[in-house]
Amino acid sequence: MNQKFILAFILLVALSNPYDHFNIIVSPDPLIPGQNATFSVSGTLKQDITNNGVLIIEFQNQYFVPVGVDPTTSVPQTTAGNQFNVIFELKVPPNLPSSYNILAMIENGDVPIGCAIAQVN
Ligand SMILES: *[C@@H]1O[C@H](CO)[C@@H](O)[C@H](O)[C@H]1NC(C)=O
Repeated sequence: MNQKFILAFILLVALSNPYDHFNIIVSPDPLIPGQNATFSVSGTLKQDITNNGVLIIEFQNQYFVPVGVDPTTSVPQTTAGNQFNVIFELKVPPNLPSSYNILAMIENGDVPIGCAIAQVN
């Protein structure tokens, strides 16, 4: 996990919502296009994650245009202020460019309650 990646997540989350905190660890790092990767996502949100909570990972090119289909997985119900943890294995889009962004969103149903973005150059 390179340090710039972690800092980009924390910085952007801090700007958008001082109470939300995400940690995202990817393996392998760097990601390999077309191969599986494991995302370990944990964090604390200021809103409850309800029983229809989902984590959505969106890969984007450097112009923030989505690449491939967004992988989605469920998130355990979590009370505000408590830490959630999700381990998500997904397939990295085969056409992922070398400069890309990863957007991680937590939604209740389709209502966004937290998000983080990392830029990889
Ligand atoms: C890659 O991930 C997908 C989606 O989670 C899974 O269905 C598939 O079995 C995985 N493939 C390998 C080789 O682990």
